[in-house]
Amino acid sequence: MDPSSLPLVAPSILSADFADLAVACRAVLDAGADLLHVDVMDGHFVPNLTMGPALCRSLRAALPETCLDVHVMVTDPGDFAKAFADAGADHYTFHIEASVDVEELVRMIHDLGMTVGLAINPPTPVEKVLPYVELVDMILVMSVNPGFSGQSFIEEVLEKTRIISGRLRPNQRLQMDGGVSAKTSAACREAGCDLLVAASAIFGSRDYAEAIAAVRGARHPVGRSS
Ligand code: DX5
Ligand code: ZN
Repeated sequence: MDPSSLPLVAPSILSADFADLAVACRAVLDAGADLLHVDVMDGHFVPNLTMGPALCRSLRAALPETCLDVHVMVTDPGDFAKAFADAGADHYTFHIEASVDVEELVRMIHDLGMTVGLAINPPTPVEKVLPYVELVDMILVMSVNPGFSGQSFIEEVLEKTRIISGRLRPNQRLQMDGGVSAKTSAACREAGCDLLVAASAIFGSRDYAEAIAAVRGARHPVGRSS
């Protein structure tokens, strides 16, 4: 396979050891991760509570060069965009299922200096995001119902992934998130994804470099020759 066609890999820190977070993040970055995925949940839009801007600020201080990809699963994503921008987030993905004025929020996030993603949950028809595809930097197709790591990949989302892929410009990214592993990543790549998120498949493995290479579909971990 042409290595240039391999996707970027973003470990989701949701499955990292929160008590040793900087160490865990440095370990996955040293093992070849391209960026870090930060899952923000408010206990209302999804049935879990996770992390907020303060944690993002600490990550930014500990890892000044690392791209921080913030995925907000909250009812009012507009309320937190500035706080995450001020905390050093590079990218801010919100959900089409959140009741917001999408165009206005996209503009606000861009004005705050972040790139923008729009996420779509498994049960939501692809038609909901298509009118906004050209406005954003990335579309995130959720391949589990959001809330928890460690769930099984929902294959039915591959069809809408292919439809979205066909609408994107070359400078827009297509991200898959949920149940992405060595077993499911080939299907994500074939459907057009160039950015894969994985929590349990990476942080649950003993060898981060092997796990990241497997998600990427690479023959060898970064920096290893055999
Ligand atoms: C799910 C989150 C995902 C999650 C992925 O609500 O948005 O980023 O952490 O976890 P895995 O890779 O274990 O399915
Ligand atoms: Zn996520």
